[in-house]
Amino acid sequence: MGYNPKDHFFKKAKSEDYLARSVYKLQEIDEKHKIIRKNDIIVDLGASPGSWSQYCLKKLGQDGRLIGIDLTDVTAIKDPRYTFYHEDIFRMNWPEELAKLDVQKVDVVLSDMAPKTTGIRLTDQMRSLELCEMALQFSSSYLCKGGSFVCKLFHSDQFKEFQTTMKKQFKRVEVMKPESTRKISKEIFLIGLDRI
Ligand SMILES: C[S@@+](CC[C@H](N)C(=O)[O-])C[C@H]1O[C@@H](n2cnc3c(N)ncnc32)[C@H](O)[C@@H]1O
Repeated sequence: MGYNPKDHFFKKAKSEDYLARSVYKLQEIDEKHKIIRKNDIIVDLGASPGSWSQYCLKKLGQDGRLIGIDLTDVTAIKDPRYTFYHEDIFRMNWPEELAKLDVQKVDVVLSDMAPKTTGIRLTDQMRSLELCEMALQFSSSYLCKGGSFVCKLFHSDQFKEFQTTMKKQFKRVEVMKPESTRKISKEIFLIGLDRI
């Protein structure tokens, strides 16, 4: 069957008041690997329209915190535990902003960032890889020991190399293509568990 924008997961997301169907990718990853805990500080890179952030906020307790960033604003989520930056990750001054929030280390880094696709396969793959590298660089600076990292990548020849880089930073690195990922999609998720 071809691409159906209003598929089962789209309808499910609507009926459960999620802002995007992509929430079910994170849910599946989290159910399998137990990424998100009640009192975590989580960073959601590429957060808009906000379904991953909604999911995180549902799982976090009152002492948990969530920091999101995206080129596109997230307007639908109002929660005192949530700080959102309407910014390009390549321009973000993390040391200054995290200091203002009194955050030194975080427990979980999530990246569902994706480039605007051009239709030129190699260009899209390269841009996706750059976003993953940026997410991993953020994680190298701020993820605590034992912390978890989830990152979406458009599959390419550089996949193995990126996975190898991750293996130097995490005790376990898993790869998943969640059920809700569209069959035609080339995206995969790399999951780094137990940061060294
Ligand atoms: C698939 S969407 C994320 C969906 C989100 N996880 C959700 O569940 O609602 C990918 C996002 O990555 C963002 N993005 C791409 N490049 C970015 C960059 N340089 N800085 C910040 N966000 C970026 C896009 O604006 C887009 O909103």
